[in-house]
Amino acid sequence: MSSTLNSAIDVVARVVSGDGPTVVVVIQQKGGSGKSTITVNLAAVAGNSSVMHNDVEAAAVVAAGIDPQGSLERWADRVAEEHLPFDYLVTRGELGILPKLAKDPNRKRIYVDTPGFMEIDEDAEWGADPLGDGKVADAMREVLDLAHFAIVPITPEWLSWEPAEFTIERILKPRGIPFLVVINLHDPRDGEAALDKVKEWIDERGYPRMADPIRRYVIHSRAAEKGLVVTQYDPSGTALRAKEDFSALALTVEQVL
Ligand SMILES: Nc1ncnc2c1ncn2[C@@H]1O[C@H](COP(=O)(O)OP(=O)(O)OP(=O)(O)O)[C@@H](O)[C@H]1O
Ligand SMILES: [Mg+2]
Repeated sequence: MSSTLNSAIDVVARVVSGDGPTVVVVIQQKGGSGKSTITVNLAAVAGNSSVMHNDVEAAAVVAAGIDPQGSLERWADRVAEEHLPFDYLVTRGELGILPKLAKDPNRKRIYVDTPGFMEIDEDAEWGADPLGDGKVADAMREVLDLAHFAIVPITPEWLSWEPAEFTIERILKPRGIPFLVVINLHDPRDGEAALDKVKEWIDERGYPRMADPIRRYVIHSRAAEKGLVVTQYDPSGTALRAKEDFSALALTVEQVL
C-alpha cells in the first residue's frame, strides 16, 4: 500500500475516533518559515467560511500558540479580538489547556502554532524523541499527542529544507502524524525556476505538498505588526491574491481531513 494511502487511512481513523475538533499542528524546526503567519491566516479563512460556523457562542475555529515568546502571542496582544472569525488561545507553554480544548464538541478545528526548536538533541538515536527536555519540549509533545494532521512550511531558500526533513522524519513520521508540506514566502518576481527547485526537492522525498505556494507579500508582514489577518486586509489586487493563497491552503487541508 502506498504511504499516501496509509496516511489517508490514518487521518480518517484519527478524525473519526473522537467527537471533538480536528487538531492541525503547524510545525517546522526552522524559525521564520511562516508557522505563525500560516496558523492565524488559515484560522481566519476557515473561520470565515460558512461551513465552519456553529450556532454556539464559541467560535468553531481556534488558533492556538504554545510558545511563551512566540509571534502568535505578540500578535494576539495587538489584535481586535471582537472582529476575528475565530478564537485564539495562548497557552504560554502551560500543559493541560489544549487537551481540554481538544475535547470541546463545539469546536471543529484547532490550528496550533509551534515554536521553532533549534535546541534539539541531534545525537538522539534514530527513533528516539529528539525534542529533548524542558518546558517547550513538553508542550510540543502534548500538542503532537493531540495532532491529527501537520502542516510543514518550507521556503524556496534551501536553509529551511533540511529542518523540514528533520521535522518530518524525526518528529512526525515516528508518531504516525500525516502531513502536508507548504511552500511559503515565494516571491512572485523570482519566477518559476526557484519554485521548481524546492518543489523537486519535496517531490523527490515523496512528501505530500500543496500544489501552489503561498506568495511573499509585504502586506503580510505589515499585517502582523498591526494585528490583522488576511481576511481583514484593505481591498486591493494584492490583498485578493494573498487571500487566495490561504483559501487554497484551507481547501487543500479540508480535502485531506
Ligand atoms: N507569505 C509571506 N509574505 C510576507 N511575509 C511573510 C510571509 N510569511 C511570513 N512572513 C513574515 O516572515 C516573518 C516570519 O514569519 P513567521 O513569524 O510566521 O514565522 P515562524 O515560522 O512562526 O517563525 P518562528 O519560528 O520564529 O516562530 C514574519 O515577519 C512574517 O510576517
Ligand atoms: Mg512563530
